[in-house]
Amino acid sequence: MFWSKTVRTFVTTALLACTTAIPAQQLINGYEPKWWKEAIVYQVYPRSFKDSNGDGIGDLRGITSKLDYLQKLGVNVIWLSPHFDSPNVDGGYDIRDYRKVMTEFGTMTDFDTLIAGIKQRNMRLIIDLVVNHTSDENKWFVESRSSKTNPYRDFYIWRPGHTAPDGTRTPPNNYPSYFSGSAWTLDPKTNEYYLHYFAVKQPDLNWENPKVREEVFSIMRFWLDKGVDGFRMDVIPLLSKPTGMPDLTPAQLENPPNAYANGPHLTEYLQEMNREVLSEYDTVTVGEATGTTLAQTNSLVDDRRHELNMIFNFDAAQLRHPDFGPPQFGPWSLPALKAIYDSHATVLSKHDWDTVFLSNHDSPRVVSTFGNDSPAMRVSSAKLLETMILTLRGTPFLYEGDELGMTNYPFKDLSDYNDIAVKNAYKEEVETGKVSAASFLAEQAEFTRDNARTPMQWDSSPEAGFTTGTHPWLAVNPNYKEINAAQEESDPASVLNYVRALIKLRSSALAFVYGDYQDLDPQNEKIYTYTRTLGTEKYLVIENFSCSLVTYTLPNGLKAANLLLSNIPRSREANVSTLNLAPWESRIYKQ
Ligand code: NOJ
Repeated sequence: MFWSKTVRTFVTTALLACTTAIPAQQLINGYEPKWWKEAIVYQVYPRSFKDSNGDGIGDLRGITSKLDYLQKLGVNVIWLSPHFDSPNVDGGYDIRDYRKVMTEFGTMTDFDTLIAGIKQRNMRLIIDLVVNHTSDENKWFVESRSSKTNPYRDFYIWRPGHTAPDGTRTPPNNYPSYFSGSAWTLDPKTNEYYLHYFAVKQPDLNWENPKVREEVFSIMRFWLDKGVDGFRMDVIPLLSKPTGMPDLTPAQLENPPNAYANGPHLTEYLQEMNREVLSEYDTVTVGEATGTTLAQTNSLVDDRRHELNMIFNFDAAQLRHPDFGPPQFGPWSLPALKAIYDSHATVLSKHDWDTVFLSNHDSPRVVSTFGNDSPAMRVSSAKLLETMILTLRGTPFLYEGDELGMTNYPFKDLSDYNDIAVKNAYKEEVETGKVSAASFLAEQAEFTRDNARTPMQWDSSPEAGFTTGTHPWLAVNPNYKEINAAQEESDPASVLNYVRALIKLRSSALAFVYGDYQDLDPQNEKIYTYTRTLGTEKYLVIENFSCSLVTYTLPNGLKAANLLLSNIPRSREANVSTLNLAPWESRIYKQ
């Protein structure tokens, strides 16, 4: 659909003028029903999903060939990580041409075929909107850096920086980059610094320039008119930079994303985006909310504000490894995780909507991080974690391969990694002698983003059936002979078949979507017990987050009624108040 600007403005104004409160009888437990609240989203990282032409790189035709697999899994929205033309210094999050498909991924015709296949299966597609920054090879930046008077100069953020009496140049302020080093780089051509919160090749756009915003809105319309159903918005709270960009204080340097995020004009930009583009389509938006606290969530997603539909809050997913700051090795605390979910349920109102996830392309594998990936515990703990994600409040986001219980990769040497974040951090921490190579590599092996990016394990043929070539862009996890989709398809007790059953159960009961959440035993260090209640319908979920057998008595004299699903097939205890829970056992009861 394409309307001229005048018509669009008129229609939007009319729509806003007509906005009235939804009659109470149309609400479900106080929430306005929406397709995206009831959705189950599956993230595809295209480079790693399925290669159709043997070049070792996943591609769009590969994804199309696996749509039946996704449909059978039961997910109904696909989030596709960036598929745009890119020099690929940061996994495609450095876009050169927003209207072109990355050559290795295929062509626009392949994209059209993919979206048609998704629609045919009654699924929807959301794509990544990466507009805090572009690639330095984007034509806007090529122009911008060419001279101080170029019309595109003001598309980016340029500053002269400081010059000492001896002529030494230093950056305008002390902002660190997410990817190590300063967030400023001096560009020799015009002798000024440009800002890049991420890699040197990812210059930040200047959202204060209305022309930048109009260009972005036009790109959004281009993809929406092709039929995409919305956007996952990369680091969206960073669009508006702090006023005057003063040095960060020592306290702010402990958590720079917090200082960078939610600048003074963010609301204005998001409302403009909504007015100009999103309000004209039936879309969903989910903002990657780096640096955003739970208390700030409402200012982005409250449905009366007309900004975003939901955000990713990283409190849970980054419990063990924040963007900045020390990782937490070894045991972590279940009460701390529960406290996060509890505070979400308390703080967010019926006008806000939440997401629930523990993994994505930036995190290590969920079973290796929050479960236990030893041969004895992997299957149960992977199933338990999916149980949690699919029964908690919020739209669930699953990451490719988690439905198979894929694990972290046994990384050893620096050369095993692809991620620019690892390579830059190695230079800054190891080559300067701040950290030993051994401890750096141990930390990376556990927490690197590359853990999530190893190729999907489809079957037990060479390279796990990901490619017919012999050189996948990132090595396949050597455990693919045991952990792969084909093997799991034929095993009724596999993680895959369990996740299918779980999705079916979640999709059959609106209580898992709109129901109230109550944690029945917040301080218990091994057991997570909660209910989801919608009217007279109540579900009880019990999860044993430990490697030991636990005899557990439900609080307040409660009895577990009808067992609907358990990840340990032998469990059939019903109508009991004391349960014998196997290691990593999870159960869902209907009360
Ligand atoms: C967040 C993305 O998820 C991550 O992969 C990327 O490196 C940064 N944003 C920069 O775009």
